[in-house]
Amino acid sequence: MPPVTKGLEGIVAAETAMSFIDGEKGVLEYVGIEIDALARHSTFEETVFLLWNRRLPLKAELDSFCADIRSRYELPPGMEQRLTALPKAAEPMHMLRTMVSALSLHDPRPNDNDVESARQKSLNVLGHAPTLVAYFDRYRRGLPIVHPDKSMSMAENFLYMLNGERPTPTMARALDACLILHADHGLNNSTFAARVVISTLSDVYSALTAAIGSLRGPLHGGANEGVMKMLNEIPTVEAAERYVLERLEKKDKIMGFGHRVYKAYDPRATYLKTLAKKLAEDTGNAALYEKSSRIEQVMGKAVAAKGIYPNVDFYSATTYHCIGLRLDLFTPLFALSRIGGWAGHIIEQLADNRLYRPEASYVGPHGVRYVPVGER
Ligand code: ACO
Repeated sequence: MPPVTKGLEGIVAAETAMSFIDGEKGVLEYVGIEIDALARHSTFEETVFLLWNRRLPLKAELDSFCADIRSRYELPPGMEQRLTALPKAAEPMHMLRTMVSALSLHDPRPNDNDVESARQKSLNVLGHAPTLVAYFDRYRRGLPIVHPDKSMSMAENFLYMLNGERPTPTMARALDACLILHADHGLNNSTFAARVVISTLSDVYSALTAAIGSLRGPLHGGANEGVMKMLNEIPTVEAAERYVLERLEKKDKIMGFGHRVYKAYDPRATYLKTLAKKLAEDTGNAALYEKSSRIEQVMGKAVAAKGIYPNVDFYSATTYHCIGLRLDLFTPLFALSRIGGWAGHIIEQLADNRLYRPEASYVGPHGVRYVPVGER
């Protein structure tokens, strides 16, 4: 039996043609294109096309892909009633996991797993998921639901459904960039979960449901909420240094720092840092950005030598706050984007499937006599 690799660190378990990561140099590319170029010039819809087709679309292809997604903004009949039967106090990530699973009940052929069917089901979830999050947020706040507007991009329409008014181009563009940056990232925990589930030839909805469950963990996508909670706990910019050093002294992890793969600056954080600064200045949140920046400085002195730098979640928190998202919508927003990546991996897995079935090294006893319950 080979040695156990806890956390499967360094184990290569799949091939992908979607994203390339060089953790030492801090490089991330989607199908060979640097993430920074995509964040600056692409749209989320175009990025998903790129990930699923491994090439950029022609204009007509992009228009048709966007129209296809927009035709799925509205929920299937009955889903709105299901959603408004949920407890208002439910956490949005639990809602999203449950409702993505429920979408399978509205699909007449939920188990079809040929690649084309998987694409269609993925488009369903990609189109419906922002509507689920926005509807739920308004329902729990006692506000009337705002139906989607097919004339808008996914980013713009999501903010419109949340707030009931068309967002400014700056806010819609900022959100679009966030969606691009979060869309795919190699064989991360949630993507692995999706690939493991689909490798049994289960169904797309089950695989995406598992991935959402994985993403919400605080060591993964849930860290962006942890960052915001930390920023809220630190009363002033001046208090940041002491806060961080005290936490490090106690061996606590500082949310939004460190990464299993990156031992250099996460290139998504580079883009988000600039975006967060601009949005914070524009929205009167400069002190929030300053706090983040101070935390980064203190962490730089204390732990950068160990290869601990801000990850994608660190400056996402300030960015999302400035866009006006409520704290518990940060991780759902990550999920809305990552559905694009998860679906691409599900399609890749189905196209060349082999059941995932690793082994465990047994460390328990042998030859133990069974003792009937009355004799124990
Ligand atoms: N704050 C302080 N120290 C840290 C941090 C952190 N956030 N992350 C790692 N370290 C330290 C560890 O204490 C350890 O130090 P030691 O060698 O002196 O014991 C060393 O760096 C290595 O840490 P590991 O936990 O072994 O690294 P691993 O690869 O398992 O961790 C992880 C990666 C889980 C992301 C970790 O950095 C962490 O918990 N970060 C905070 C949560 C977070 O931001 N998660 C989001 C990740 S990005 C994403 O999933 C989208």
